[in-house]
Amino acid sequence: MKKTEKKKKIKLTRYLKPYWVFCILSPLLMAGEVLIDLVQPTLMSEIVNESISGKAFGDIMPKVIITGLIMLGLVAVGGLCGALSAFTASAASEGFGDDLRRDGFNKVMSLSLQQTDKFTTGSLVTRLTNDIVALRDLVMTVLRMLIRAPMFLVGGLVMCLSLDVSFGYVMLAAIPMQLVIVVIMIKFSHPIYSKVQKKLDAVNSVVQENVSGARVVKAYTNEKFEIGRFDKANSEYRDQNYFVLKLFSLIMPVMMIVMNMAVVAIILIGGYRAEAQAINVGDVMAAAQYLTRVLFAVMMVSHIFQQTSRAQASAGRVREVLESEPVIKGGDVREADEKGTVRFENVSFAYPGSSGVDVLSNISFEVKKGETVAVIGSTGCGKTSLVSLIPRFYDTTEGNVYVDGVNVKDWDTDALRRKISFVLQKSELFSGTVRDNITIGTEDASDEEILRAAEIAQADTFVSKMPNKYYTYVAEKGTSLSGGQKQRIAIARGVLRRPEIIIFDDSTSALDLSTEAKVQQGIREGLEGTTVIMIAQRIASVRNADKIAVIENGSLVAFDSHDNLMESCDTYKDIYASQMKGGATNE
Ligand code: UTP
Ligand code: MG
Repeated sequence: MKKTEKKKKIKLTRYLKPYWVFCILSPLLMAGEVLIDLVQPTLMSEIVNESISGKAFGDIMPKVIITGLIMLGLVAVGGLCGALSAFTASAASEGFGDDLRRDGFNKVMSLSLQQTDKFTTGSLVTRLTNDIVALRDLVMTVLRMLIRAPMFLVGGLVMCLSLDVSFGYVMLAAIPMQLVIVVIMIKFSHPIYSKVQKKLDAVNSVVQENVSGARVVKAYTNEKFEIGRFDKANSEYRDQNYFVLKLFSLIMPVMMIVMNMAVVAIILIGGYRAEAQAINVGDVMAAAQYLTRVLFAVMMVSHIFQQTSRAQASAGRVREVLESEPVIKGGDVREADEKGTVRFENVSFAYPGSSGVDVLSNISFEVKKGETVAVIGSTGCGKTSLVSLIPRFYDTTEGNVYVDGVNVKDWDTDALRRKISFVLQKSELFSGTVRDNITIGTEDASDEEILRAAEIAQADTFVSKMPNKYYTYVAEKGTSLSGGQKQRIAIARGVLRRPEIIIFDDSTSALDLSTEAKVQQGIREGLEGTTVIMIAQRIASVRNADKIAVIENGSLVAFDSHDNLMESCDTYKDIYASQMKGGATNE
């Protein structure tokens, strides 16, 4: 619908704005350091010229000492400028990186599920860490080198030529040579960098998948295969990186050779000129020093280009994240007259990015405030997809979903989601205490409220036996708990919010029937007036619901009470019969 919307372009340089003072100070201080550095060889040459002037020792010493002291003083001031320039540059670049990372993370949090899926977790991790580091490094380099390089280049050239114009020939030969090398390097390295980052994405993806899926890998003793997969990604990354590094390790010595040859040439020419009394020996030494500064400047330029091309690849990847607009954007409704109602109107749905096959087709039903509605149907029939449309995790392809009488597309997404507790099919726990896990989204809850929620969810029975009770630490993803314990903590989390609507997606599947019955009773008594939508596989779990939605292949085949369905709905009767035979239903 809004696909034609223009993409917002984001300039990463705007992240430097808050640090503009540092961005100006750092190059200025650097300029101070460079100026002082450019004076040094001249002062040095004065000392040398004075020493070999043939004057008496006593006559030379005062001048040598004074010049030496001036040099020392200047070095101290230059060093101070250099240090301050480094401080200010770090402050700017670190601040830049920090802000960028924070915005990147906030953006990732705001994206819709389909978008984060598309980026892949591994790639998002690389983009928010490694890529931003490359950008931060570039800021640092630019602040420190951008003024240093041209000043050395121009200053060195002017000083050197002012000593003797014939040194210009050496410059004329050496500088273009260095430049050609720089151009070659940029040409080869630039296209590689974006490939290097992509390979790093792959490495991160494998690591990430395997760490979070470590149990599966071990259960199927699949370590060898996974290590192989990692090795492949890792060696591809290494090879790409290696190529760039080889290129640079070749180029550096070549540049040094050019530089040394140029110094030799200066000394040769200077030697002849000194013999002809056209120049002092000290000045030849100074000229050689100026030349090395000029050629170093060219190397610095190459360094800047190298970092720029690396950062360009990274900038593109970071901008891609920052520029993605959440596909699901909320409206501005924050309040409604109705409370706790849900209505599906001719809803069809296909997953974005899938081949367009409808997972749900033409579904209509209505849930009144305070009702308990169950959803039943065989695995893969579309139950999770159906309830995911209520908090608008995805948008319908046709038809509309209404919560409290307002189209979910018109609701402010936060306001909508605050009304709803969604207890997911797979309980997601985070590292932290049991209390932390229960209070996600309701951080200001009192101990009393937490205890009450845990009692309703039948979680208190086991939490109170834990060593530190609600302050017991739960390992990442809740690995230190049983499946049923995790489910009960997740239910307590949903209950604590006291939502208008609570959705259980097969959230009691790991509980035995008597515990499940206690949870259901607790919810009926403890959350009076709350609308309950409950997905379940077992008839026993749903038979007390006010209405049961029977889903088959993405279609709603019946919507009625247990007793009525037992009379009129064949699909329901089949499910009932199959579970009776298996003895799954406790009458
Ligand atoms: P559901 O996830 O809605 O099925 O997927 P379900 O009824 O809840 O199944 P169980 O009981 O939890 O096992 C419905 C269909 O949607 C597709 C699946 O392939 C399935 O056929 N699907 C699901 C996607 O295409 N993408 C998804 O992200 C999830
Ligand atoms: Mg499901």
